[in-house]
Amino acid sequence: PGKPVQTFRGPLLHFLEDPGLDTTPAPGSYDYFEDGLLVEQDGHVEAVGPAEDLLPHLPEGTKLAHWPDHLILPGFIDTHIHLPQLGVMGSYGAQLLDWLEKYTFPAETRFQETSWAQSQAALFLDQLSRHGTTAALVFCTSHPQSVDALFEAAEARGQAITGGKVMMDRNSPDGLRDETVASHRDSQALIDRWHNKGRLQYAVTPRFAPTSTPRQLELAGKLVADNPGVLMQTHWAEHLSEIEWVKELFPDRSDYLDVYAHYGLLNDRAVLAHGIHIDDHDRRRLVDTGARVAFCPTSNTFLGSGLFDLKSAHDAGVTLGLATDVGGGTSLSLLPTMAEAYKVCQLRGQSLTPFQAFYLATLGNARVLHRDNEIGNFAAGKAADFIVLDPTATPVLAMKHEQDRNLFERLFDLMMLGDDRVIQRTYIAGHCRFDRDSHCGSEKR
Ligand code: GUN
Ligand code: ZN
Repeated sequence: PGKPVQTFRGPLLHFLEDPGLDTTPAPGSYDYFEDGLLVEQDGHVEAVGPAEDLLPHLPEGTKLAHWPDHLILPGFIDTHIHLPQLGVMGSYGAQLLDWLEKYTFPAETRFQETSWAQSQAALFLDQLSRHGTTAALVFCTSHPQSVDALFEAAEARGQAITGGKVMMDRNSPDGLRDETVASHRDSQALIDRWHNKGRLQYAVTPRFAPTSTPRQLELAGKLVADNPGVLMQTHWAEHLSEIEWVKELFPDRSDYLDVYAHYGLLNDRAVLAHGIHIDDHDRRRLVDTGARVAFCPTSNTFLGSGLFDLKSAHDAGVTLGLATDVGGGTSLSLLPTMAEAYKVCQLRGQSLTPFQAFYLATLGNARVLHRDNEIGNFAAGKAADFIVLDPTATPVLAMKHEQDRNLFERLFDLMMLGDDRVIQRTYIAGHCRFDRDSHCGSEKR
């Protein structure tokens, strides 16, 4: 009994563990099936493995989609992105603090209009699907209606979204700045309304230390303490002028990370975006508390923020994610994000293998969000959130695909030369939510 089974056949890759930074991935860290089969039922993964093993056991009349020339992967996960910043992408000529004032704060102010928040939320989630991203950790704006808009749209799509209302009660303009007590009250009401409703989860979201009063950070810490299971997301150590400003605003704290620790915000549910200008003492504190860092390479190079030290963080044992940081980031796709991460590593004399990059974008990011029991790979029982990639989507990719490529090379081609054009289909909980040729067809709810 139960809902009908759907199966998806083709080359299939997913990760089981961190493959490490070496050119040769750690043994047993991934499964790749040249002719694989994904069996889905009721929105979940029923089984995955070689097609020849699984096909004989399927019930008569099972629906089969065959993608022999494609690649089936778990959906990409974005561990740091801003709902209100689609229109801010690619804004010219400014670094972080000026960029916030000149472009970002004005764009976010418009989210006080509920109808704008709702239409942007729908556009945002449709764009994530187009780019193969099936789950994300999202900054909304300081307006509670921006969170309602995002969660209503995500709920309708059955999508695993974690998000929160930005808390910012100083150093920001009228219409965007919130009020200390109301910010806490509104955040708690949103947690009560949305946290753990279906696939939705809440993240307490103080923007970053400079835009919150000490009292607001204290109340953010109270939200974290009062609501076990919610995440906490903020920005940290992105730009040198930001770090100087934090020193001035919080003279009693030993360093930037100590500000968040002091207010009870640093634990294993904390996701800190950037963490570029940091040292070994910071890394040890991240490991000791379990706090995570989201590496946002296209944002870091676009805003001129700096080069993240991936190897030091990985070697220290910091839990790492990969994220777009749109609209500081210049692409919604995790593929160009991997490419930029590779280039940042090159500039530091390091490297990023395609195995590590695809691990980060899937299982690694699921771990950052504490959702690896639900998403990140095709372990039985997880959500059937997956994508079908077309490795010949562009003439150059097609040309390279003609050559005799091993898996490492094929993944590296996709990561360096791919983008949303290679996303053929995106499935969320077994439902087709995007098809490049508009053929989701009867599978679309
Ligand atoms: N620091 C504080 N707010 C922001 C933001 O919106 N984007 C980025 N990249 N950094 C920030
Ligand atoms: Zn950001």
